[in-house]
Amino acid sequence: MDYDWDNRVDTTSATVSWPDRLRGVFNSPYQPTEPGLFHEMIRSLPIEFSEFTFIDLGSGKGRALLMAADYPFRRIVGIELLPRLHRVAQENIREYRSEAQQCFAVESVCGDAVDFAFPPEPAVLYLFNPLPENGLERVIANVELSLEKNPRPVYVVYHNPLLEALLVRSATLKKVGGTDQYSVYASLESGGHKIPAV
Ligand SMILES: C[S@@+](CC[C@H](N)C(=O)[O-])C[C@H]1O[C@@H](n2cnc3c(N)ncnc32)[C@H](O)[C@@H]1O
Repeated sequence: MDYDWDNRVDTTSATVSWPDRLRGVFNSPYQPTEPGLFHEMIRSLPIEFSEFTFIDLGSGKGRALLMAADYPFRRIVGIELLPRLHRVAQENIREYRSEAQQCFAVESVCGDAVDFAFPPEPAVLYLFNPLPENGLERVIANVELSLEKNPRPVYVVYHNPLLEALLVRSATLKKVGGTDQYSVYASLESGGHKIPAV
């Protein structure tokens, strides 16, 4: 609520409609990322932001997209399954006004994260538990295939990593940092630098 009030946007879960809440039970309920933790996660990354695309799989009303816009990312993309949440995200992107904003190439796409074709550029992939086990397995396989075709630095920031076991067994993505609230994995091309715990 504080985030929405301060930034004149609508990213709270409190106003999600009942049909979308119900769909959330079968997919993954909408819950926006808490700002303090988001900035801790993003600031921990040892990257030149301007070289990286920020991708939020399961972007909901777009709060993580707006918070990422406060960093000079090359561009920012969110993929959201539920059309109503996607439309609110589009409106939020249009309305967002912040002196902190540094990236203006921000978009929300309505679609299934499992089918998302990763762009062949360095990326920060943000996951806040958007998918069940079989969906996340397919997303990891897509990332690995994309890295095989176009080797490049890719970081996966996994917030509340309930299904981390699926990433642990990846041969392409290795854990480089995190806390009990999130984990950071990186492709081999990222240089393997360990991120000191905050
Ligand atoms: C926990 S919320 C995270 C919201 C946002 N990433 C944030 O951090 O503020 C998870 C979101 O994933 C969406 N979702 C669930 N299954 C999905 C899928 N297959 N493809 C895309 N989005 C999905 C849900 O509708 C929900 O908005």
